[in-house]
Amino acid sequence: MGTEVIRLGDVMLAEVKGVDITKPIEPETWATVYQAFLDHGVLVFRDQPLTPGLMVQFATYFGELQPHITKKYWHPEFNELIVMTNLDENGEINPKDDSRGDTWHTDMCYFEEPAKATMLHTQQIPDVGGDTQFGNMTKAFDEMPVTLKNRIENKMATFRYGGVRVTGQERLEKADRGKPPVPHPAIRTHPETGRRSVFVNPAHAVSIEGMEDDEAWELMEEVFAWCIQERFQDRHHWRMNDTVIWDNRCCWHRATANNPLRQPRIFLRTTVRGTPTH
Ligand code: SIN
Repeated sequence: MGTEVIRLGDVMLAEVKGVDITKPIEPETWATVYQAFLDHGVLVFRDQPLTPGLMVQFATYFGELQPHITKKYWHPEFNELIVMTNLDENGEINPKDDSRGDTWHTDMCYFEEPAKATMLHTQQIPDVGGDTQFGNMTKAFDEMPVTLKNRIENKMATFRYGGVRVTGQERLEKADRGKPPVPHPAIRTHPETGRRSVFVNPAHAVSIEGMEDDEAWELMEEVFAWCIQERFQDRHHWRMNDTVIWDNRCCWHRATANNPLRQPRIFLRTTVRGTPTH
């Protein structure tokens, strides 16, 4: 069977069929997959269980893997992977981890080289809820009113793990709190497609260079209110043995933190190293 790319969502979510991601991938097939990644931004591969080793093998097609900032989460055998779980050491639901990642963000924007891509593979999913949402920040920028565009377009923002909000810092492990902010353009240019998208995001933004904090936050709140409109979003409802990869250079994401039956939600997760922003 040939490779098929099927749009699942309105703005960025697509399913790739006909590729065995547990095996080495032929160059021609890989070219189709990678083009779909650039064209859509979020890809889903279904019904293919991955061992940790196979996940590393598949994710490495997208680039060099970058270990997570918090060592506590690292997979015991593969440091490039983390085990993302909402359970504590006693197997109980940990409310902090059950709502982790529920503010719109892009991964590792608090490093000089923010993540290119993030991949999740299911281990356990709740019967109800547990979705992940994606925001197409290229579309949000393209359609932004020109007056707002002009105000944010050439600004440098700063980013810190957990952002500036007290709650953002409290959620982190102690060793990860209060890291120095890192500057990036508020609107970044995609290094491969050349398209511009909103990069400043509600979870990790701290300030805008050259602006007083109040003024900077007023502007950022306006940008965020524009970007979180539903018309820029797709939602992925997980099935067991789904693998999802998204392009952090042009999309925001968030966990919906909706787990009404309070069931385990566990993923293997990895990130692909990116390049400096411009
Ligand atoms: C993440 O923020 O990287 C994970 C999103 C999710 O848990 O749905």
